[in-house]
Amino acid sequence: MIISASTDYRAAARRRLPPFLFHYLDGGAYAEYTMRRNVDDLGSVALRQRVLRNMSSLSLETELFGERLAMPVALAPVGLCGMYARRGEVQAATAAAEKGIPFTLSTVSVCSIEEVAAELSRPMWFQLYVLKDRGFMKNALERAWASGVRTLVFTVDMPTPGARYRDAHSGMSGKHAALRRMWQALTHPLWAWDVGLHGRPHDLGNISAYRGHPTGLEDYIGWLAKNFDPSISWQDLEWIRDFWQGPMIIKGILDPEDARDAVRFGADGIVVSNHGGRQLDGVLSSARALPEIASAVKGELKILADSGIRNGLDVVRMIALGADTVLLGRAFIHALATHGRAGVVNLLELIEKEMRVAMTLTGASTISDITSDVLVPQSGSV
Ligand code: FNR
Repeated sequence: MIISASTDYRAAARRRLPPFLFHYLDGGAYAEYTMRRNVDDLGSVALRQRVLRNMSSLSLETELFGERLAMPVALAPVGLCGMYARRGEVQAATAAAEKGIPFTLSTVSVCSIEEVAAELSRPMWFQLYVLKDRGFMKNALERAWASGVRTLVFTVDMPTPGARYRDAHSGMSGKHAALRRMWQALTHPLWAWDVGLHGRPHDLGNISAYRGHPTGLEDYIGWLAKNFDPSISWQDLEWIRDFWQGPMIIKGILDPEDARDAVRFGADGIVVSNHGGRQLDGVLSSARALPEIASAVKGELKILADSGIRNGLDVVRMIALGADTVLLGRAFIHALATHGRAGVVNLLELIEKEMRVAMTLTGASTISDITSDVLVPQSGSV
């Protein structure tokens, strides 16, 4: 029985993936309260039904930093995306390009920047973490620029990793356990990596290429664990602002004051996000944080939002709450893990159809018509 695309793909991914990989994807931080609220708060935003308004012509197109988007959706950076399908980053990125939306490559991708960019008909976005190894950051930015990337997503909500207890239960946490699990995934006939980089099955695209020697998984995990930088501040980002010539989006904003700081810093955009509930449990869901942030900075920079978006109705809700564009996280990985590129294309088509229905029945014929007018104000909710 079909319930919804995202629910079905999640169930299919659960059947298909080894449990530790499914739970690594599905889990959040601590008691996972914020992760659940992301979905529940967003789903409970009430749409305002309007009828008899001649909705025969709809446009979902939008524009962001001079780039045309077929709909106001992009694929979020998801680390180790290539663990969910063979050359997963390439499959997801080509699906996004086919549907006319951006794909964001994570710093910790399996396929390298060059490998993914070479397969694409449109420029992808690149996500960078704040890492102590500034040499790595600079090198990654140079490689991204040389590969045609112009939009940089700079993730700032990981100065230290949140504790994900599910990973401890499923054997995905701790250096040696994670290593063992990832090795299982690598050598599993369904998931064995097939990265272009030197044809070596256990390289991690971006990181291996930078380090320039045969780094294996153990090296990668140790390197990453040492590299989160809790000392980071806005001042530390200034060199990146000066260095990067394209649009720069700060990802992981959840407070209006931080959003104002992002404007003062000169960011071109922010992503209102709690990292899908994977960092600090107990913080506001994105749906609850977004309206206040939008009233603080709307129009001064582009507002993107993620965390909890599972279908086209959720996209319309986030835009009505103040976002210009949204990012899909787990939703596209579920589809990728189930049917690879074709799954992601199908998911994006379903999201588009769901958006069309929501827009038709709320009386919004263009994306700019999706304002707070398409919502029913509810006391005690978002
Ligand atoms: C993430 N996310 C993430 N964000 C980022 O900036 N860089 C990264 O490498 C990752 N890696 C990552 C791995 C996994 C398995 C998940 C689930 C998430 C966060 C991601 O970009 C996005 O903010 C959330 O996924 C949005 O929440 P939903 O849509 O998954 O609920």
